[in-house]
Amino acid sequence: MRKILLLNGLVYLQGKLIRTDLLIAGSSIVSQGEYPDLPGEAETIDCTGLCIFPGGIDPHVHMHLPGPSGFSSDDFETGSRAAIAGGTTSFIDFVTPCRGQSLIEALHKRRIEATNSLCDVKFHVSPVEWTAKTGEEIIRCIREEGIASFKVYMAYRSSIGLRDEDIFKVMKTAGRHGGLVAIHCEADEEIENLKNGYLSEGMTSPKYHPLSRPNAVEAEAVKRALNLAEKAGCPLYIVHVSTRESLDYIEKAQSQGLPVYAETCPQYLLLDNSMYDHPFDRASAYVMSPPLRKNEDREALWQAIRDGVIHTVGTDHCPFSLEQKRRGIHDFTKIPNGAGGIEHRLSLLYTHGIWGKRISLGRFIEVSSENPAKIFGWYPQKGMIKEGADADLVIWDPDANQIISSKTHHQNCDLNIYEGLEVKGLPVHTMMKGSSLFLQ
Ligand code: URP
Ligand code: ZN
Repeated sequence: MRKILLLNGLVYLQGKLIRTDLLIAGSSIVSQGEYPDLPGEAETIDCTGLCIFPGGIDPHVHMHLPGPSGFSSDDFETGSRAAIAGGTTSFIDFVTPCRGQSLIEALHKRRIEATNSLCDVKFHVSPVEWTAKTGEEIIRCIREEGIASFKVYMAYRSSIGLRDEDIFKVMKTAGRHGGLVAIHCEADEEIENLKNGYLSEGMTSPKYHPLSRPNAVEAEAVKRALNLAEKAGCPLYIVHVSTRESLDYIEKAQSQGLPVYAETCPQYLLLDNSMYDHPFDRASAYVMSPPLRKNEDREALWQAIRDGVIHTVGTDHCPFSLEQKRRGIHDFTKIPNGAGGIEHRLSLLYTHGIWGKRISLGRFIEVSSENPAKIFGWYPQKGMIKEGADADLVIWDPDANQIISSKTHHQNCDLNIYEGLEVKGLPVHTMMKGSSLFLQ
């Protein structure tokens, strides 16, 4: 069996950085300690001056997502290559059946689509309607298919979104059988009214996207989702939280002891709604739901990470090319929603979190790897450096710099919402189950 010795790295163990060696055999971490006498036949990698973190786990991505403007531009192969280049070794994508299609059939098809992924992949399964079979299929997903989470959408009611009474049924079933519900919180009716109002006045540019999805649209939906989950007795995971007002509701529910987890994304921590003032080709890159917010929201999100109110930072990776975005050149509601970011999640979080002195190294590891592993059933096989865990590791140079650009990134897209931003802290080597998949 192939053995690799990572020598003299700074490894985050039991709450602190420790200079140590790590021995890997095959796909697992075997032991940690000092190895003055190298075990025979082990290859060595000198990690002096470098950190070693558990491989990143992105709990929210959309590879090859179908939509009216075509598929999101990264498939499982290109998206996972970009993930690995950024130090992320596992991610959770979605199974979104067509209405009328069985959840199980859609799950099996999606698993086949994901076979060319370089990363380990799990899925959130999305019931997009409630039929006589949905409850039984959710139970089968949990018992027979190892699915732990079900994602429902309060937005997008005309296609994949559910009414509250159906969300409640999903929550009741999932909660009773040990599952969790992940939820996209935006109040659909309110968005429809606002969107139609702007369009009818001839207001068609990207800047009306955020105006048709103000903070209250998210916060009111969060409040409703929390009530539904409490009544249904179901653990809740709120995806891409972007507003200060939502955090107030989430914090209150958590303080009452309810099992509520929250996720945010780098775009909501780092970018603001002034991006929509640019001309169409630039502004449309930032059309995503929820939209970018104000500085006070960003500050509140960082505070919530520090306070442990937000548990994970995912990306909602869903890139579209400029050509795809131009579908909405005369109507902002036709711009495909979403942007890429899986490659930059760790370096952005490290730059602005650690170098920016906003979060501790422990929090960085928790939100980027450990907590997603714990919440979605990967822990302790992933999400920590420990004997017996998968050797999914990122060897990290805390001082390496890069200027992010679509010209040099690995994501399959000619747009990058972080274009021109400088990061400090980058992977130099990413290992997936002991195999070196990225080497700087
Ligand atoms: O704008 C976004 N978030 N696009 C991806 C699909 C979704 O809503 O999660
Ligand atoms: Zn999403």
